Amino acid sequence: MGLISKIKDIDIMDLILSKLHGGLFRKVSTVFVGIFIIFSLIIFAFFSFQQLRYLKNSLINEGNSLVSALAINSKLGVLAGNELMLKKEATGFLYQPNVIGISIFDRDAALMSIKKKGKEHIAMRLASISDIKGRMKKGESPPFIYEDKRCIDIWAPVYVSVEFKDEEEMMLGIAPKKKRLVGWVELILDKSDILRKERLYTLYSLSLFILCIAWAYYLMRRASLKIVGPLDRMYKLVRGFSSVEEMHEIPVEKRHDEAGRLASAFNELVRRVKKREEEKERLERQLLNAQKLEAIGSLSSGIAHDFNNVLSSIMGGADMIKYHLQRGEEISLNTAEIILMSCVKAREMIGRLMTYTKGQEVEKRPLKLNDQVIMIKKLVAGIISDDIEVKLDITPDDPIVFANPTQIYQVLMNMVTNAQDAMPLGGSLKIGTKVVEISETEASKKASWINPGKYALISIEDTGIGMDEETKKRIFDPFFTTKEMDKGTGLGLHNSYSIIKEHDGFIDVISSPGKGTTFQIYLPIADVKEVVVDQEEEESLKDLPHGYGTILVADDDMFVRGFLKDLLTDFGYDVILATNGMDVMKKFKENIDKVDLLLLDIVMPYKHGRAIQDEIRHIKPEVKIIFMSGYPDYVLEEKGIFISDIEYLHKPIRSAFLIKKIQQAMNS
Ligand SMILES: Nc1ncnc2c1ncn2[C@@H]1O[C@H](COP(=O)(O)OP(=O)(O)OP(=O)(O)O)[C@@H](O)[C@H]1O
Ligand SMILES: [Mg+2]
Repeated sequence: MGLISKIKDIDIMDLILSKLHGGLFRKVSTVFVGIFIIFSLIIFAFFSFQQLRYLKNSLINEGNSLVSALAINSKLGVLAGNELMLKKEATGFLYQPNVIGISIFDRDAALMSIKKKGKEHIAMRLASISDIKGRMKKGESPPFIYEDKRCIDIWAPVYVSVEFKDEEEMMLGIAPKKKRLVGWVELILDKSDILRKERLYTLYSLSLFILCIAWAYYLMRRASLKIVGPLDRMYKLVRGFSSVEEMHEIPVEKRHDEAGRLASAFNELVRRVKKREEEKERLERQLLNAQKLEAIGSLSSGIAHDFNNVLSSIMGGADMIKYHLQRGEEISLNTAEIILMSCVKAREMIGRLMTYTKGQEVEKRPLKLNDQVIMIKKLVAGIISDDIEVKLDITPDDPIVFANPTQIYQVLMNMVTNAQDAMPLGGSLKIGTKVVEISETEASKKASWINPGKYALISIEDTGIGMDEETKKRIFDPFFTTKEMDKGTGLGLHNSYSIIKEHDGFIDVISSPGKGTTFQIYLPIADVKEVVVDQEEEESLKDLPHGYGTILVADDDMFVRGFLKDLLTDFGYDVILATNGMDVMKKFKENIDKVDLLLLDIVMPYKHGRAIQDEIRHIKPEVKIIFMSGYPDYVLEEKGIFISDIEYLHKPIRSAFLIKKIQQAMNS
């Protein structure tokens, strides 16, 4: 499983935890509170029911005792049919709590005595004597109880004992074997008291219940937080991770429960992901190095190709000079220009190579396209075969593009060389510029990176052999060539295509066999009005005055030393040459009074330039020192040589520029 999938796991975990957090807390709280409410409700209902039952049973028991006592007490009154006696008996019972009515009937159901509290108790009667008789016939035993929501109605028969064994038994009230029904007593009990008590009880219970719920909610919340809290903290921590670097382990809090175990598992995951990330970075670095090496490999073949083109013009130019000098003829200024321009291009190519190896972007700047084309025409005119006519057709619009001049030069030189190769028997080569507008539909047809708008168009048109459709399809492929083994690498157009693409442009080709070829290079017009001209390039030796003084020149390259001696001597200076660091010190000490300026290569055998400077400053502080080097700045820094505080010139140096710098240093 790859790292990406691990990271996806973390996303999923984040999602789960976020859902868990919202959901789990709610769920745990809801479940807890829900269970508590259900339990409380059941307990509440159970106890309410029990309480009500208890109250009712107490009332019924009380009623039963009263009715039994009344039945016994009324015996004589009923037997004697003495209403006064009965009334007296009943009055005592009527003052008992909850009793609202008492009725006493004789055997024939005639009412013998009624006592009542209020008037309504007759209306409250729930049964009649015939109901009682019916229940007695069924074998039910008294007292007989009837109940509705307002009252309890209790009936009991009044018996007298018959067939006593003797008078003593009768006096003692010992139950005889036989008894005779002589009447009925009825007691009505009011339920409003127990209903009131029940209401009060319900109110108390309900308040207690609400209090319990609030308390339970508080406890549940605390309990839920205790369960969900660590998950919540984990969730917040995981949410905070926006990259692998920001992943931290979660403080486990020495918990041994599920949350603790989850945190430990997560920490283990974090450790593994970090380890994998480190491994991945290590592999990426390795891959990058491998790719860099590969890129340098293919780059060097590309550069070698373009460098050979440049060297061709330099060698061609030098051959021409030699040839004319040998014949005692005048040398054309144009030939020198060709050599110089080629050298400038070669220097820029080296710069580009350095930029590439450092992984930086190629430097682009506003460029007058017509100037580039004119320069190419000049170059080409000097080296192209005589049987090819070179024509120029530039637009007066003078388009400015944002480009790297060396790369544009490279592309144009490739096209021109191809055109020459396509015209072995001679012909005509037309180089032109134009400004064109590209519509949205055209842009979408050209290439995916092309935006509609104004473009500068450079066309290179030849009257050569042309190409068939098959060749045309493959010309931009790397190493595709139709030329002989040593004549073409097949990289020219491939490089050109990449360069133009890097400039947000594109290349079109129009060609058919025998009818010549036209390459059209489109580059977006830059949104600038003026271009800055490179000062160094504008200097000319002929404009510079001669000087005087002694210069100690040190370089380990014999040709550079030789050239510098010639140049400086020509400009009036006395020159002492040194070949390495030790030699510089020796020559300096020998000529200490004469030397006005040192022109030092920074990196030399035995002692580098900056170390020499430190020594010389102690011996002769006023002496001027100019450094030069062919190494790029970053290489010098890697070697521990810092150049930010010294006068330093990059090789190759234009002669006029060097002379000017020397003159400025001498005069300062
Ligand atoms: N102007 C042209 N006329 C006819 N064919 C051309 C023209 N330009 C390019 N080609 C064809 O495209 C092929 C590829 O060109 P490219 O510049 O990439 O490589 P090359 O010229 O063969 O090699 P190199 O550039 O190293 O000299 C050429 O071999 C040739 O067949
Ligand atoms: Mg080519």
